[in-house]
Amino acid sequence: MTFTANPRRTRLALAELTPDILDRTDGFGLTATDAGPAGHPSPRDVRAWVAEIAELTQPDRIVWCDGSAAEKQRLIDEMVEAGTLVKLAEDKRPNSYLARSNPSDVARVESRTFICSEHEEDAGPTNNWCDPATMRDELDGVFEGSMRGRTMYVVPFSMGPVGGPISQVGVEITDSPYVVVSMHVMTRVSPRVVDLIDGGQQWVPAVHSVGAPLAEGEEDVAWPCNDDKYIVHYPESREIWSYGSGYGGNALLGKKCFALRIASAMARDEGWLAEHMLLIRVTSPEQRQYHLAAAFPSACGKTNLAMLQPTVPGWTVETLGDDIVWMRPGPDGSLRAINPEAGFFGVAPGTGPETNPTAIETLTHDVIFTNVALTDDGDVWWEGLTPEPPEHLIDWRGDDWTPDSDRPAAHPNSRFTVAAAQCPTIADGWEDPAGVPVDAIVFGGRRASNVPLVTQATSWEHGVFMGATISSERTAAAEGAVGELRRDPFAMLPFCGYNMADHWAHWLRVAGLVDDARRPKIFQVNWFRKDADGAFVWPGFGENSRVVKWIAEQIDRSRGIRTDRGAVTSPLGLLPAPGALDTTGLDLTDAELDALFDVPAEAWLAETDLTEEFFARFGDHLPEEMTRQLERLRSRLR
Ligand code: OXD
Ligand code: MN
Repeated sequence: MTFTANPRRTRLALAELTPDILDRTDGFGLTATDAGPAGHPSPRDVRAWVAEIAELTQPDRIVWCDGSAAEKQRLIDEMVEAGTLVKLAEDKRPNSYLARSNPSDVARVESRTFICSEHEEDAGPTNNWCDPATMRDELDGVFEGSMRGRTMYVVPFSMGPVGGPISQVGVEITDSPYVVVSMHVMTRVSPRVVDLIDGGQQWVPAVHSVGAPLAEGEEDVAWPCNDDKYIVHYPESREIWSYGSGYGGNALLGKKCFALRIASAMARDEGWLAEHMLLIRVTSPEQRQYHLAAAFPSACGKTNLAMLQPTVPGWTVETLGDDIVWMRPGPDGSLRAINPEAGFFGVAPGTGPETNPTAIETLTHDVIFTNVALTDDGDVWWEGLTPEPPEHLIDWRGDDWTPDSDRPAAHPNSRFTVAAAQCPTIADGWEDPAGVPVDAIVFGGRRASNVPLVTQATSWEHGVFMGATISSERTAAAEGAVGELRRDPFAMLPFCGYNMADHWAHWLRVAGLVDDARRPKIFQVNWFRKDADGAFVWPGFGENSRVVKWIAEQIDRSRGIRTDRGAVTSPLGLLPAPGALDTTGLDLTDAELDALFDVPAEAWLAETDLTEEFFARFGDHLPEEMTRQLERLRSRLR
């Protein structure tokens, strides 16, 4: 299972690209040089690799997938027949289906997620590391015969438009038709990917098995999986091996495994960024456009911001991505970004007509729901969809449910899988392979105390420090307690494929790859500040557009488009100057506004001590610049 280096490090299959893409490809460092970094071998030949995996896993048959609508429908029909999918009522939710997973297979399993770099310190203290040779031996045993009695699907896919200058390709082998159909929605599945690979483009091999071989004549279950799970990444050889789970990021290997863990390691080596961020286009009443990439830890309203409906008159927000952004220094000196995914795999509970009307509109047809509840008239329901639950439901486990039941009807991590193209606010040209120029990078967290509604970093380095110190209060019970911070640097804690402190160093380096004038400005936001009574001070949701507006106006000021005073200094960075944050029509008292921007020096000094402890975990991988930023913050607070 080891691969020899590809001797033909040739260019992208340029004949495949339209002249339009070809033009834009120039300058991204891809046409002039080879498509892959030296010393990071891809498998020599995709067909030989497929044969090798088939020999190991021993499937009954092999199917090469073409990504066609006919293929998707055939697999869906087979899964309905097998009981894996329930077809929803055509008049309520056309072309939509419900899957119920095994109750033991409902979320990403971080404890079984491994970064198998050659050296342990390259995985860093925040990842599970295992020696790659040891892991390869172990997985050889685990995968042996794991697809017996099943079909092995070969899924060639592109992250980003096929052949685009910021895109990357991979091939997922899986024995789960649910995974194949999900990959159709979440990635671009296409035989053209095989042509690119044959042309020498670097690619990521990804092997997935649910780990439930069928004996001769044994009947299958609706959701096969295995209690023993492995989600394994080899960042140096750019490989993924996943076993035992059919759910979400464990199994749709283009998403967290490739587009974040493996891609972040590629990006480190090749001078770009693979980040856990949403991407939006903001347009001002003057029709000026701004592109914002924003990182938020889980449960901080990322999807809501990705689909924001502004309350400030004249401003619009369009959606480009909801989870992952790849950014590459572009030929024009800007940092150009794409959403490498083609769909949304979003959390259903909490999504309702009040909280996220755009998502609700996106979900009216052609959706695969997983682990939500089924209504008596063949539609779906989850907590937060309507204020009152229906009187009777079939819950996510397939059991009867009434409002008196003492458990949720939908699993808290139940999901919708839907094409991004269906989103009513999807941005014009969202599939442009050359991406969009990023104007602002935003870091967010869920903080009841300390962190202001919005702060602008005074420099790129200061912004990297903000990203490195993102945190959320751990639980409701602990809210307000500074000692209970859950650190989630860059919202990448479970997703960085290498040493987190090296990730900060990489960010510091990337600044130099972008023109001074085009370098994005960096901001930190916090929608979740609470008052002394524990109530949220800021209304959130659509009103967050007021903060987005200030960010856009700060970009205008940095470009000389506006000359009014937008900001004042504080120990934490730049805060909106009095009157610069548009609060017209908001029912917010001066005292509340003050509370949103209060910087309590004592509490902040205590927090810097915790940051120092956190930084110490990274030893000499910690960039000196981070220590310098911490010391400067301390002296400003004093
Ligand atoms: C996700 C996550 O599923 O961040 O997107 O956990
Ligand atoms: Mn995510």
